[in-house]
This record gives sequence, C-alpha cells and structure tokens, in this order.
Amino acid sequence: MDNDILKVLYSQNEIKEACERLGKQIQKEYEGKTPVVIGVLKGAVFFMADIVRAADTYMQMDFIDVSSYHGGTKSSGEVELVTDITLDVAGRDVLIIEDIVDTGQTLKFLMDTFANRGANSIKVCTLLDKPAGRLVEANSDFIGFEVPNEFVVGYGLDYDEKYRNLPYIGVLKPKIYSHN
Ligand code: PRP
Repeated sequence: MDNDILKVLYSQNEIKEACERLGKQIQKEYEGKTPVVIGVLKGAVFFMADIVRAADTYMQMDFIDVSSYHGGTKSSGEVELVTDITLDVAGRDVLIIEDIVDTGQTLKFLMDTFANRGANSIKVCTLLDKPAGRLVEANSDFIGFEVPNEFVVGYGLDYDEKYRNLPYIGVLKPKIYSHN
C-alpha cells in the first residue's frame, strides 16, 4: 500500500499524540457525566478505539453507519442511514466521533438526527477537519488536525474500501483514482 501514497500527512506517532490530547479534553468536558459516545462507521473505528482509551471517564459506546461516498472520492450529497445506534439518546449527552468532516453533510445529518431524538447536548470530536470542503455548516468541538483540500486515506479512511488499515494518514497518488 505504501507505494500508492504520494505523501504522509500524519505519522502513527502524531496520530497517537493527537488522540491523547483529545482524550484528555473529552475527559475534562464530561467529568461527572456519562455521555453516549457514538462512533461513525466505518471510518472512525480506529480513532474511536484510541480516543475512548485516552479518556478516563464513564461513558457508553455505540456505533452508527452512514454513507454518502459509496466508495469514491466525491460525496453524493445524500446521506444514507445504513445501521442505527441501539441506545436511546433522549436526554443524554451525545459525543459524535468522526474521522473527517469534509462537506459537513454527514455531520449535519447526524446532529439533526440526534437533536430530533431529544439529546440533551451534542458535541463532536473529529480527527480531521477539512474546512475548504465545507458545503453546509457543521462545526466540531474537538479537532485533531486541520487538513488541506486533498483526498486522504489511512487510519480508517478509505478509497474503494481499501487503505483503511494503513497505520498513518496520507495523500493517495492521483493515478490511483483518476480512472473514475
Ligand atoms: C466519510 C467519513 C465521514 C464523512 C465525511 O464517510 O467517514 O463520515 O465521509 O464527509 P462529509 O463531511 O463530506 O459528509 P463515508 O460516507 O465515506 O463512509 P465510511 O466512513 O464508511 O468510509
């Protein structure tokens, strides 16, 4: 897989440090509370696993699967709920864990969904924020890195469902996806 990567943006070590920093922020934010921490499949799996272990606070975990990229590099704009959470978020403090916020459409869909279900509070922690990609307003409370407007893969992020298991985050060589 390394041969398909144009450049490394964040190394394994940089990601680890960011998770520890964000985990401590979350720990402080939710002291004395028990938030429902919701990982957004599939991209956020590794980030979710690392960040919850960096926050020494009570929490309940759940997962939601939404999709809008359908394996490609451009959002279709239509967010589809694939698999829902199992916990009831009414009256609860919700923390959404995302790998990346790009157009913002996924995050807006999730925030609207949990607000409609009566969540007491909704906050967002994303490893990567790509403000240059934003089409709708959707802001995160905890951000690992602000990324340039390039298609990134690794540490959960995919192209054509591949590269999620790269231990670092990098920019894919354009020739890999230029035939699309
Ligand atoms: C990716 C990513 C975010 C979303 C961000 O998910 O994991 O959830 O896109 O993009 P947006 O801000 O433009 O909406 P994707 O739909 O590709 O599913 P995946 O996590 O299973 O790869």
